[in-house]
Amino acid sequence: MNHTTEDNITVKKNASSRIHEVDFNNLVFGKTFTDHMFECDYKDGAWTQPVIRPYGPLTISPAAKVFHYGQAVFEGMKAYKDDEGGVFLFRPEENFKRINTSSKRMAIPEFPRHLFFEALHKLMELDRDWIKPGAGNSLYIRPFVMATEAGVSASPSTEYKFMILLCPVNAYYTGDVKVVIAEKFSRSANGGVGFAKAAGNYGAQFYPTNLAREKGFQQVIWTDANTHEYLEEAGTMNVFFRINDTLITAPTGDRILDGVTRKSVIALAKKDGITVEERPLSVTELVKAAKEGSLKEIFGSGTAAVISPVSAFGYKDDVYDIAKVEDSYAVRFKKTLNDIQYNRSEDPFGWRYKV
Ligand code: COI
Repeated sequence: MNHTTEDNITVKKNASSRIHEVDFNNLVFGKTFTDHMFECDYKDGAWTQPVIRPYGPLTISPAAKVFHYGQAVFEGMKAYKDDEGGVFLFRPEENFKRINTSSKRMAIPEFPRHLFFEALHKLMELDRDWIKPGAGNSLYIRPFVMATEAGVSASPSTEYKFMILLCPVNAYYTGDVKVVIAEKFSRSANGGVGFAKAAGNYGAQFYPTNLAREKGFQQVIWTDANTHEYLEEAGTMNVFFRINDTLITAPTGDRILDGVTRKSVIALAKKDGITVEERPLSVTELVKAAKEGSLKEIFGSGTAAVISPVSAFGYKDDVYDIAKVEDSYAVRFKKTLNDIQYNRSEDPFGWRYKV
């Protein structure tokens, strides 16, 4: 697909690019930013003239509500370059819809679709050279919105800033991921903000994840807040369990992020004739499957890692290793997704979006 855009954004280009200072083979995830960023302020009940300007610091009141009440949401997307220099986003409409779903839950005004897509087109045009072809290389795109009104009264902000930052990234290799099943802490609860990409959802994970790390695990598998019996997400990702040849993942709802990679994996699995069950899976059932040998795989799915296989899980005082299987679903789905994302294969679902 080719897309045209209207010219609604003021563009202030960087006088000289920083690209030559960057070692593209040794990027730390999320630490390097391209030459430009997008910024649009909400004031007096409307989004104002958007601007793309050189990446740099902001001036913001220390009383801005984002600092006091965490009124902020974000998205994670990626752009990929094929060997001919074509640039593609992956299902950007889903991220657009989700940032507004998240915003609504956090009492943040929704952002207009045409500005979101025009911003992405212009940024990809300006910072195209920062997207490197080749397996594992991509551009991580971070749209976010924060409450900028100065004032510490606990009420929704009347002013906001919508921004998009771009980070060139290499493969998000986490090695063997060992996860521990949460027995005390929770990520979300019914009626809460678990389904939203609210900034605080992630900040609240840091402490329990640090405790897990001290015990030799890299991530936590979050369980439901009421009983800690049902498996919900893994770290910052959705999580899939393969028992025999059936793929099981928690159903979306109040507590589960409606992940773009999650829904893509489900579509690919169904296309391959794999039985997919979107249902609550209990720890009891998981432990039983691990003991019986019917637990074949656990993997996380998310934009950053795409698919992240789990090599072992801890529960209470036991650790259950998951032996590698020959016909791994995780390996298969990662390859299929990457082939679509890098324009190396057909795109039967129309997920690729050329910019
Ligand atoms: C994702 O992979 O979807 C994320 O949101 C990761 C991000 C928190 C770094």
